[in-house]
Amino acid sequence: SGMNSAELQARQLADKATTLAELREYVENFEGCELKQFANNTVFADGNPNAKILLIGEAPGSTEDEQGIPFCGESGKLLDNMLSTIGIWRKQNAYITNTVFWRPPANRRPTNEEINICKPFVERHIALIKPKIIILVGNTAATSLLGKNEGITQIRLNNYSYINQYLSKPVVTTALFHPAYLLRQPMQKKTTWFDLLKIKKML
Ligand code: URA
Repeated sequence: SGMNSAELQARQLADKATTLAELREYVENFEGCELKQFANNTVFADGNPNAKILLIGEAPGSTEDEQGIPFCGESGKLLDNMLSTIGIWRKQNAYITNTVFWRPPANRRPTNEEINICKPFVERHIALIKPKIIILVGNTAATSLLGKNEGITQIRLNNYSYINQYLSKPVVTTALFHPAYLLRQPMQKKTTWFDLLKIKKML
């Protein structure tokens, strides 16, 4: 298939990462993703590693790149507010990461190649957290991790069984509109409220 040497290297590192600390070190030292050249920080994760709820967003933005923490800018504030309405707080019961670990220049969407290079790390990340539920935040995370052709508008309506080679059993997975989209399209906040209530019932 389209496997390149960076993907192969990421896969070999992900295969041997047996702890979160090891995985973080491998990601921070990884030079195979060109996004790193432009970035100030590796944005690995935030929240409680023992949480049952795992959130996966798209990519760090400028605030995240400055601080090295996912979803710490405007989108992150909205995401935290949304989640708090259904009893989810990242410091307490959630863990949060992205499909890529470095900010794409000018906040463009990460390319499929960049996403695929980071994917072995993301897959191992998921397995090391071993969540009970995965919430994919936005179209990029939803389509790339579920391998779906539909977009987020359809994907968010259903639940899925997510599995990868490092997991011993599938994880119930659903999706939400990205908060950056909701900041641009406030009318969709209402539909997202119903999506959040659906997730609350799943918890
Ligand atoms: N948007 C994302 O998808 N992830 C972040 O970490 C910040 C903004």
